Amino acid sequence: MRKIIIDTDTGSDDAVAILMALRDPSVQVLAVTTVCGNVNMEQATVNAFRSIDAAQTYVPPVHKGAYRPLMRDAVTAENVHGRDGMGDIGLPVPDMLPEKEHAVEAILRLVRENPGEVEIVTLGPATNLALAIMKDPEAMKLVKHIYSMGSGGYGMGNVTSVAEFNVFVDAEAYKVMVEFAVPKTLVGIDICWLPGAFFEEEEIEAIRSEGPVSKFAMDCNEALIEYSRRVRGRRKLDLPDPYAMGVALWPEIVTEAHDCYCYVCTDQTPAYGQVIVDHHKFQAVDKSKLPRHAPNARVIKSVDTSLFKQRLRAALKTETVTG
Ligand code: RIB
Ligand code: CA
Repeated sequence: MRKIIIDTDTGSDDAVAILMALRDPSVQVLAVTTVCGNVNMEQATVNAFRSIDAAQTYVPPVHKGAYRPLMRDAVTAENVHGRDGMGDIGLPVPDMLPEKEHAVEAILRLVRENPGEVEIVTLGPATNLALAIMKDPEAMKLVKHIYSMGSGGYGMGNVTSVAEFNVFVDAEAYKVMVEFAVPKTLVGIDICWLPGAFFEEEEIEAIRSEGPVSKFAMDCNEALIEYSRRVRGRRKLDLPDPYAMGVALWPEIVTEAHDCYCYVCTDQTPAYGQVIVDHHKFQAVDKSKLPRHAPNARVIKSVDTSLFKQRLRAALKTETVTG
């Protein structure tokens, strides 16, 4: 059974990714760790419990992590996911409590206890991961793989023209994570904007009718759907974190990926938060005259969006295995 830690700034798309992992019988979610991002860390923790409760499977331990980014003030996204990060639809707060152990300690302990086995899916700013790497790099070398929703991938950002939210919030942390030598996969925001990747209004309505978990997944994204209407002129849904979780859970959805050298820009310039993805394919000059950097991440270039949607719908509506 695969062993996964989910690190999340739980907003409404994180919630769907959490449902996917908790409802997958081939993985065990060892812990959910929370971080500030979409909302403050306390609210992200409440939302993690809401998502765990909605999954109707089992309750992994939840550990609270960083209140703020490494170097900068927190930036949140209530304008996108709602004031509570979950669409402001009046979701109840489950009667569940976080562990006393800090997220960073929990990550390090679980990795030490399961050397070479733990896969981390990080769905928010990389602050907790960077702190864990800085605290005990030897332990973090025992991580099997990091899957990250972060960067513009091969495209643009969603906060600035070059920076995607998770990197923009804490680019210093993202740099620590990207430059750390463990196998990792980056899923950029471009993936959930591929042709066919959006969930159109008819699909949203169809999914809503497929059962309580499916309904929860759509309902809690109401603010995100409305955000699309405001910025794109149409009610539709993009799901960055579920695409990242999908790449982790269902590798068969990946149709193109490259091992790349990724450089995270942390200078206080308009490039702050950009991840430059070099896949060594450019031929405009003699490459031997340029500095050569070894790849430090696999970057997803395209996925089979229709297979992803099929898998997601099945995961949300299938009878679950409780554990
Ligand atoms: O840019 C999209 C990412 O930022 C997603 O992880 C979303 O939840 C927010 O954290
Ligand atoms: Ca997120």
